[in-house]
Amino acid sequence: MMKVHICKDTEAMGKAAAALFIACVEEKPNAVLGLATGSTPIPTYSEMAKAYQTGVIDFSKVTTFNLDEYVGLAPTHEQSYRYFMETNLFKHINIPTESTHVLSGLAADPEAECGNYEAMIDAAGGIDLQILGLGNNGHIAFNEPADAFAATTHTVTLTESTIEANKRFFESADEVPRKAYTMGIGSIMKAKKIVLLANGAAKADAVAAMVEGPVTPQCPASILQFHPNVVVLVDEAAAAKLTK
Ligand code: F6R
Repeated sequence: MMKVHICKDTEAMGKAAAALFIACVEEKPNAVLGLATGSTPIPTYSEMAKAYQTGVIDFSKVTTFNLDEYVGLAPTHEQSYRYFMETNLFKHINIPTESTHVLSGLAADPEAECGNYEAMIDAAGGIDLQILGLGNNGHIAFNEPADAFAATTHTVTLTESTIEANKRFFESADEVPRKAYTMGIGSIMKAKKIVLLANGAAKADAVAAMVEGPVTPQCPASILQFHPNVVVLVDEAAAAKLTK
């Protein structure tokens, strides 16, 4: 079931999402958290860091798995998702580095990297709470619009729409890697609870398609309609095309 909450602004969205993570870790100190990168979760991660720094939450027993990583970028590359996570969350909280998992952009054997990642998530007991952003084209993680849903962690070729959207972080569109590793739709759907965040007018069509459109791999996020426990947090601008 999908519960949609319209929040006042991105700060309120961040607070609401962080509250879900705090509740999850309070209930289960060794929770497995699924994490995302991009602009959307940054306020959430700031709130989580604040909660740690003020003694509200302890991350020492938590395990994390990130959704995706660019193929070819080293963990020290400023646009790699490992680097993003270190900068925006991990270095501000007390999680041991070995408990944080991000696919390796430099893996020599992509198939083994993806297979091992999927197995590690399962061995950890599965993801308790997964945070997701939403692509302008309806993608979740790097599962792009396609003719079929991909089940497990795999390699993808990014679409022009995603390269355009992500070039803001690079010197030019040419610098954006063309491939990425991503958890599959099946991997994401196995999470016990999901919180999806979307803000800004550019996301309004994707939000409407995800919540009110048909379930189709042409809008990968629409599959979340079939998940038993999804919270969607949006601002007014991203909610503008919802009709119900
Ligand atoms: C990032 C990810 C992507 C983003 C999406 C939205 O790990 O999986 O699906 O969540 O592209 O990106 P932002 O938040 O930058 O608008």
